[in-house]
Amino acid sequence: MEEKQNEIATKEDIQLLDSIYKQNRDKDSIMIYLQKIQSEMGYVPQYAIEYLAGKTKTSESHMFGVITFYSQFSTKPVGKNIIKICNGTACHVGGSKVLGKKLKAMLHVDDENPTTEDRLFTVQPVACLGCCALAPAMMVNDKVYGTLTLEKMKDIIDFYKKEAENGDI
Ligand code: FES
Repeated sequence: MEEKQNEIATKEDIQLLDSIYKQNRDKDSIMIYLQKIQSEMGYVPQYAIEYLAGKTKTSESHMFGVITFYSQFSTKPVGKNIIKICNGTACHVGGSKVLGKKLKAMLHVDDENPTTEDRLFTVQPVACLGCCALAPAMMVNDKVYGTLTLEKMKDIIDFYKKEAENGDI
């Protein structure tokens, strides 16, 4: 898997950062910059933190504090589709641990590298999705899938793969 954590920014990356900075300079908020970078780039790379630190005269450690505090930010590339697999009590009783393992195996990801090589999926464990009656459950982006089985999970993954092939996602 391509590791972008210590990647050197390309000319296009810097152009994108410049444009995000210029468009939001009047708002003067680290949160706004980080949200834009996360949404445009899919994550907040180290070079973006260094760039922002230089432009805004904010320390990199402060920015890391913000990034690690808010779950909306990631310093690693994330996939187009975020799969939240529930590990809460009801789902655990319903077999979510085994399903989660199978899902990760199916997508060739693990806890260290939760994003698929094609950046289509990122798997994230969550404590409870708030729909325990549907246990075991998972969420793909903002859609909940309940009473999961291995077969159902395969169908869901296939659905998102097909949508991506058709350019719908
Ligand atoms: S425990 Fe899984 S949805 Fe609540």
